[in-house]
Amino acid sequence: MEPREEIERQKNYSEKVKELTKNKELTYTILTMGCQLNENDSEKLCGMIEEMGYTKSENPKQADLCVFNTCCVRENAEAKLFGKLGELKRAKEERGTIIAIGGCMMQEKHITDKIKESYPYTDIIFGTHTLHKFPEDLYQVLKKHQKQEDVLDIDGKIYEGLPIKRESKYKASVTIMNGCNNFCSYCIVPYVRGRERSRSPKDILQEIRKLAEEGYKEITLLGQNVNSYLRVEREKGIPTSEAEGVNSFATLLKAINKIEGIERIRFVSPHPKDFTDDVIEAISEGEKIAKLVHLPLQSGSTKLLKRMNRNYTKEQYLKLVQKMKERIPGVTFSTDIIVGFAGETEEDFENTLDVVKQVGFEQVYMFIYSRRVGTPGDKMPDQVPEEIKHKRFNRLKELVEKQIAVRNQEYIGTVQTVFVEGKSKTNDELLTGRTDSNKVVVFEGDESLIGQMIPLTITSEHMWYLTGKQEK
Ligand code: 5AD
Ligand code: SF4
Repeated sequence: MEPREEIERQKNYSEKVKELTKNKELTYTILTMGCQLNENDSEKLCGMIEEMGYTKSENPKQADLCVFNTCCVRENAEAKLFGKLGELKRAKEERGTIIAIGGCMMQEKHITDKIKESYPYTDIIFGTHTLHKFPEDLYQVLKKHQKQEDVLDIDGKIYEGLPIKRESKYKASVTIMNGCNNFCSYCIVPYVRGRERSRSPKDILQEIRKLAEEGYKEITLLGQNVNSYLRVEREKGIPTSEAEGVNSFATLLKAINKIEGIERIRFVSPHPKDFTDDVIEAISEGEKIAKLVHLPLQSGSTKLLKRMNRNYTKEQYLKLVQKMKERIPGVTFSTDIIVGFAGETEEDFENTLDVVKQVGFEQVYMFIYSRRVGTPGDKMPDQVPEEIKHKRFNRLKELVEKQIAVRNQEYIGTVQTVFVEGKSKTNDELLTGRTDSNKVVVFEGDESLIGQMIPLTITSEHMWYLTGKQEK
């Protein structure tokens, strides 16, 4: 069935569920694990669920529907999910709570087997390619009391036009592509999210124009590998509805930069190997494109990068950073690093520390290597003992924190353009926003500033935030 017909079919199910839930004042909760792509999927799930008559609540034990949107990139999420499912058993027995689990972890058979065996009271299991079918799955449970297992192994199509309930009124995420073709040897994503496929330029630009009309100012473009946007389609000659001359990531950035109302554009994550000169040029010339580039390093050792199947060397990574520093005035970097991948020696790890020292990242997302069933990394013989992984992780953390403290100092006295996101979570009297380089700034100001881009002078620094003040 064509995606458009399928979405119509789901709208029908949505109407049917709405009939069933009418006047019942039903509530739902959703727990989202993992990356921003999953958060964006959850916004779509919330959109569908609210259209079916449910309202959001924060207490899973009191809710009528509990949804989990899972991640399987690292092991710790599994324990968390199983713990939460255990806690819901009573609610299920007493209130008949409907339990639905979806997302990346559900694409792994050993996990769905475990759920069916140990948590048989789960009602719906759905995967990454069947999210749009949630209304149908829920209908079958409500009406026919049948458990649903709705996981597809093949690559899903792209479904446009799902309802969406966004977390913020001012900043929005827009998924531009799904899947990944890189097969980094530590990573499970290509197995659970399938092959790369890009949304059409027309659909993306339409979505962003609508967001701009609704008052959204900041857009984050999402994909597992954003800078290979439309690459597969180009290589295979697959037609995409061409719009405004967009046929690559660089041209997409340029087109979005022209959209009136949008004031800041971010994107995650690009791959260093695909960082072409036209993208560098688009960032440098696009006045709305944030000059913070998230450039996942993973390891600073060429030997490990090869084992990780990353397709670049330490030197190539550093050269790319250097090139961007020369061509993009004011550029800053953030990164992802994995510590303790199979075969990592003290020397390899020191190369990682060396790159961190040389680049001076604004932010480093650090991960201890977690073996993932089904990936080549898991089968490599020379796994690093947990104790060494933890020791190295702490050494890296110490270096990163030292560097961040030094960089934070450099902000004091400068004027930064801050996008005001809302009230501070810890102090109602203060507002909070972010600089172009994604640093949190806390300051005193009037609520009417929320949703605006304003200049602030930075007055002090703390490890995870800066403070600022408005110039009179
Ligand atoms: N173990 C630890 N970290 C991982 N990542 C991906 N797979 C693993 C794994 N098996 C990290 C990478 C990636 C980020 C999203 O998660 O650094 O960039
Ligand atoms: Fe995983 Fe590598 Fe693809 Fe990123 S690029 S999702 S790390 S396989």
